[in-house]
Amino acid sequence: MQGLNSKVALVTGGASGIGKAIATRLAAEGAKVFITDTQSELGRAVAAEGGLHFLEQDVSDEKRWPQIVGQVEQSSGQLNILVNNAGILGRGDSNPENTELSEWRKIFSINVEGVFLGCRAAIPAMRRAGGGAIVNIASITGQMPTSNIVAYGAGKAAVRQLTQSVADYCARQKLNIRCNSVHPGFVRTPALERGYVDIAKATGKTVEEILEAGKARIPLGDYTLAEDIASAVAYLASEDARHVTGAKLIVDGGILMD
Ligand code: NAI
Repeated sequence: MQGLNSKVALVTGGASGIGKAIATRLAAEGAKVFITDTQSELGRAVAAEGGLHFLEQDVSDEKRWPQIVGQVEQSSGQLNILVNNAGILGRGDSNPENTELSEWRKIFSINVEGVFLGCRAAIPAMRRAGGGAIVNIASITGQMPTSNIVAYGAGKAAVRQLTQSVADYCARQKLNIRCNSVHPGFVRTPALERGYVDIAKATGKTVEEILEAGKARIPLGDYTLAEDIASAVAYLASEDARHVTGAKLIVDGGILMD
């Protein structure tokens, strides 16, 4: 990837799953990478192992965002790349009838407000750096009915639309800041596996059966890897994507192919 060497990147939710793979890949491409997470012990261990830097953060905490961006700028002089990856799935059997408003709000506060707050905090820093790239991790679930993860799907649709607005705003303001979204399919991370346990309990099936049924929906024949998502993010964050903004990059093994 061109132009990632010596860039400064911030990846939220970087202690686990897809975020960890993204942070590892950006670092391998030569970027200085900060990860943030609510799981501080795990985050510190992942950072130490991967040559990354850890900061504790709950992305839904409005006041924490300027502090995080300030700490990155203070220690590295600039912020060039933001990956809004942190997210929660919620219960895997949360349908339009049994979902509490408190559950809905919790998912939106992290998955949607967290992304908005991240974009809002990063844009001024990227202005100061002369430009930048924001990548928001959405999901294919934002483009299909998700009757058992009802708030999650609605929130991911919002992330896609927000990505377009941020991209449009930055382009019109001539900020040299690009904003794109990556839409993973099914990736076997701790979050997905917890969701499958919930579905198994609700349907009386085994987790193995749920896993097989999930796999059968993927035209390329197997689960997407966290590293596949990391490749897409690295591309969008790099100079190879210098003319790509407002785009939606689906990485799902063909589930959503037209
Ligand atoms: P994961 O649960 O393995 O990792 C998510 C990380 O985010 C965890 O380390 C967690 O502690 C952190 N986190 C959760 N809430 C946070 C908060 N409020 N502030 C800061 N950090 C927080 O999950 P996974 O699967 O790696 O998910 C990463 C992103 O990818 C999420 O946005 C998810 O919605 C999205 N995604 C995942 C898919 C999958 O199949 N695993 C499919 C489509 C999208």
